[in-house]
Amino acid sequence: MRGEGVWLYDADGTRYLDAYNNVASVGHCHPHVVEAIARQASVLNTHTRYLHEGVLDYAERLLGTMPSELAHAMFTCTGSEANDLAMRIARSHTKAEGLIVTRFAYHGVTAAIAEASPSLGKFVQLGDAVRTVPAPDSYRIAPEAMGTAFAAGVREAIADLKAHGIRPAALMVDTVFSSDGIFTDPTGFLAEAVDAIREAGGLFIADEVQPGLGRTGDAFWGFLRHGVLPDIVTMGKPLGAGHPLAGLAVRPDVLAAFGRECRYFNTFGGNPVSMAAGMAVLDVIEKEGLMDNAQRVGRYLRARLSRTGPAPCPHRRCARCRPVCRRGTGERSQHAGARHGRDRARRQPLARTAGAAQRDRRARQHPEDPSAAGVLRSQRGPAGRDAG
Ligand SMILES: Cc1ncc(COP(=O)(O)O)c(C=O)c1O
Repeated sequence: MRGEGVWLYDADGTRYLDAYNNVASVGHCHPHVVEAIARQASVLNTHTRYLHEGVLDYAERLLGTMPSELAHAMFTCTGSEANDLAMRIARSHTKAEGLIVTRFAYHGVTAAIAEASPSLGKFVQLGDAVRTVPAPDSYRIAPEAMGTAFAAGVREAIADLKAHGIRPAALMVDTVFSSDGIFTDPTGFLAEAVDAIREAGGLFIADEVQPGLGRTGDAFWGFLRHGVLPDIVTMGKPLGAGHPLAGLAVRPDVLAAFGRECRYFNTFGGNPVSMAAGMAVLDVIEKEGLMDNAQRVGRYLRARLSRTGPAPCPHRRCARCRPVCRRGTGERSQHAGARHGRDRARRQPLARTAGAAQRDRRARQHPEDPSAAGVLRSQRGPAGRDAG
């Protein structure tokens, strides 16, 4: 098996358009990234107690893509670690415990952050200090009511925390709400909820593991689309194009207490090879105009998805399903989706319509024909299968 650009090839050589992978946003095995990793690995790789210019150069370049208030960077190997660290920083700054996330959020796998990832299912208990709020569901809420509706949920969660004697430390959201079903628009709807958490003394943590690095097409970071300034931004997945690189950006004043009181060392987070990978990814995004590309491909995908309704879905296993809504799936973004439902009026989801990686029959019959390749895609939201 191998990957190249947007394509994946299986053991038989059949190729698939990889619309599923949310890591290789510069394409599989990009030669510039591969070369950068190999070059640095052949010169030096150390754990991060050794000083190396690579970490400074990369931190400066990464922070240069964000508002200047976010002036410190810390590196980890996974998005889970980054969110875990963000929570620790938020709690040490606010001296509070409460965490608010969306109802089908996914933020990672460490013990602490799994307790704030309700999409992991009922066998993973939410933490005592965690509250969930309804996602800003653009399918069910009118665009003009979205900001107020989402903020109302956050205010209710704050009140409930307080009623249980817990002060809120942070609101943490994936700024495209990918595991809740992908809710990107209207831009700006996050602002009221951010005000609400700040009024209650909490911080706003933007989880950019999914939307970051220009994948929305119209902004380098998802939070920028909403015109809000997070206290902490967490990042992961595409940062190293498959090489395990993640981290966070934070306001210096927010980090001060943690910096004083807690020792932070992460053996691999920020090592020279990871930094070379991260730098190369930024090169590719810039040089190849990948934000413009995300806009172009997003527009095309959306136009094609729109053409599928209102006729019955051609998928054989869901003959009764209709793509019922294409609103709020990202006008110009690499993130796009069609919603499948049985019933337009009741807006019920049609669960489990297809596997995440589905092999197209034609691809099996015509492996030599590139146009016959299957498409790998994912199912998200409460009725979907994929959280991460
Ligand atoms: C929004 C979000 N946050 C955090 C994570 C966790 O990242 P990782 O799998 O690198 O630990 C994921 C992974 O899917 C994610 O989608």
